[in-house]
Amino acid sequence: MAHLKRAFSSDHHFRDGRILSSMCTAPHELAIKAHMMFIEANLGNPDLYPGTKRLEGEIVRVLGELFHGKNLNGYMTSGGTEANITALWIARKLSGKRRVLFPISAHFSITKAVNLLNMEPVEIELDESFRMSVDDVEDNISDNSAAVICMAGTTELGVVDPIEQLSQICHGNTFLHVDAAFGGFVLPFLKELGYDVPKFDFQLSGVCSLNTDPHKMGLSTIPSGALLYRDVRFLEHITVDAPYLISNKHSTLTGTKNSAAVAATYAVLMHLGREGFKKVVKQCMDNTNYLASRVQELGFELAIKPVTNVVAIKLANPENVQKELVKQNWFVSKGRFPKCLRIVLMPHVTRSALEEFVPVLESTCRSMGEL
Ligand SMILES: Cc1ncc(COP(=O)(O)O)c(C=O)c1O
Repeated sequence: MAHLKRAFSSDHHFRDGRILSSMCTAPHELAIKAHMMFIEANLGNPDLYPGTKRLEGEIVRVLGELFHGKNLNGYMTSGGTEANITALWIARKLSGKRRVLFPISAHFSITKAVNLLNMEPVEIELDESFRMSVDDVEDNISDNSAAVICMAGTTELGVVDPIEQLSQICHGNTFLHVDAAFGGFVLPFLKELGYDVPKFDFQLSGVCSLNTDPHKMGLSTIPSGALLYRDVRFLEHITVDAPYLISNKHSTLTGTKNSAAVAATYAVLMHLGREGFKKVVKQCMDNTNYLASRVQELGFELAIKPVTNVVAIKLANPENVQKELVKQNWFVSKGRFPKCLRIVLMPHVTRSALEEFVPVLESTCRSMGEL
C-alpha cells in the first residue's frame, strides 16, 4: 500500500482542476460504485454473465434511441480505438477492399486501424471550417473504396464533419463510419440546449456505424466505449469459432474484457438521463464560452468559434507555450490544423480553475512574445 500511495501521489488527478487537455474526466460516483460491484464480470465469456449482458443490451438500446437508430446492434468496447479498429475491420471484410478515406483531422487510432488491417490510407484535406472536405472526398472516392471515416467532434477542435453530404455520397456504395468518441455525449445535448448542431447520426441513411465513449463525456469509468451498427449481419463478418466457450462463437476484438465499466455506464445513463447530461453539457459549454471570450478580450485569436467544449487558441509556437504551462502544472495540449493551444472544457474543469489559469496563460504568452 505504501508503494501504491507513493505512485498515486505522483499522478495528476482530475480533482486538482489543472488537467485542461484530457477528453476523460472524473467518473460519476455512482459509476464507481457500479464498477466495483461488477469488478469480476467478463463479457468475453458472456454465458457466465447474463446479467451484465442484459445491461450491455440496455445501453445499446438507450444509445440507439439517442442516435436516432431503429433496432440498432452494438456492444461495449474498451474505448474509441477498439471501436474504430472494429468498424474498419467490418468494412474491410464486407467490401473485400482496402482503400479508406479519412480526414487529416482524424484521431490517430484510425492510423493504427489502417496499419493493423493493412489498408490503404487516403487522407482527405479540410475545408475552411476545418471539416473533412466534401470536394476532396468526391475526387478520391471510387469503386475501390472500402470505407469513409468521418468525425462528429474532432479530437483537436471538436468540429463536426459534413456528415449529411458524406452520407449522400456513400449511401448504398461505401461503408460510412462516424467517430463520435468525443461528440456522442455532447452533440445530442447541445442540440437540446438550442445550439446549431448538424445531423451526424443514424437519421442519415448512409451512416453504417458510429462509436461513442462513455469514458469521455459520458462520466463513466475507463474503459468504456460503445460501437453501434445498423445491420446485425455486419458482425458475422468478424465472428470466429470459439469452441471452448458455451456459445461457441466470438465476435469482439478483445477476448477477456473489463465489463465493470458496462455496469458503470448503465448506472450513469439511468441515473442522469437526458436532462442530467444536458446539465453537464451546459456547464461545460458555459465554461467554454467564458474562456473563449476571456482570451479574445486579451487579444488572442481563436482557431474557430467553439462548436463543442474545446477552445483552440492560435499561436505561432504552441509546443513551446505548452511546455512552459506544463512546467507550471497546467496541463494543456496542442493542435496541428491549425497550429493552436487546445483546451478541453471537461466537467472537472471549474470556473475558478479557469480564473486562475487565464492570467498564467497571459503572462506566459507575453513573456514568449505570443501576445
Ligand atoms: C475522436 C476520437 N476517436 C477515438 C479516440 C480514441 O479513444 P480511446 O483513447 O478511448 O481509445 C479519441 C481519443 O481521444 C478521440 O478523440
